[in-house]
Amino acid sequence: MKDVLVVATEFFDLPVEEKKRFYSEDPHDQGCRLKTSIDFAREKVHFWRDNLRHICHPLEEHIQQWPDNPARYREVFGLYSVEVRNLGLRILDLICEGLGLEAGYFEGELSQGHFMSVNHYPPCPDPTLVLGLPKHGDPFTITLLNQGDVPGLQVLKDDQWIAVEPLPNAFVVNINHMLQIISNGKLKSAYHRVVASNVARMTIASFIGPSMDVVIQPAKSLVSESNPPLYKCFTFGDFTRTYITDTPKGKDPLEHLMIQS
Ligand code: OGA
Ligand code: NI
Repeated sequence: MKDVLVVATEFFDLPVEEKKRFYSEDPHDQGCRLKTSIDFAREKVHFWRDNLRHICHPLEEHIQQWPDNPARYREVFGLYSVEVRNLGLRILDLICEGLGLEAGYFEGELSQGHFMSVNHYPPCPDPTLVLGLPKHGDPFTITLLNQGDVPGLQVLKDDQWIAVEPLPNAFVVNINHMLQIISNGKLKSAYHRVVASNVARMTIASFIGPSMDVVIQPAKSLVSESNPPLYKCFTFGDFTRTYITDTPKGKDPLEHLMIQS
């Protein structure tokens, strides 16, 4: 967990010339994409984050697109992504048992997707004017966040923002939007945001989720006449397209999926 944070810092410390071949402004860009949140033309609040995102699974099909500078990047992130994936799948197995779903419910297409998002929050001269990341829920199944040792993450509970203090060698595990829908609202996706600070912060978020063409709906065994489905059926790809436009507008991306009673 420490090594990935060190290598990530080395990556963001590279000269712009070296990093810019990964830069892209296309939100649908797959593969390996570097971006910065600051968008002077459109934004109302500055979002103080640089971000590198890449696909992690199947590793052999994607590792060639990852940075090869720092020289250790692929080795360290490759080992890490395999271990994080195993941990995530174990947690999903336990969630499956907890929900009373048939064994293996999350294996296969609901956990086929695996992204890593490397977040670099540069030191900010006036943290009161910016946010690291605005309020959002993660769109996938679960997130395993390695947040290093610098605070910044906050979670929304009962309309209050609560700081999630970093614990050494621990992951923050978030329930994501798809798990809320599959569990028919039994599990709630966690809304969270990041505040900026005057020291640099590096975090690594690993997202496990469905592939784009997978049909998502409340699990059949969790719905009944007395407990009707709360959400419509849709593909994860369709959801992703509205998520990308709804979230920056502050719109709840689950709202249009709710079945009105
Ligand atoms: C994210 C996220 C939190 C953090 O990448 O989706 O919420 O502390 N990151 O960086
Ligand atoms: Ni998030």
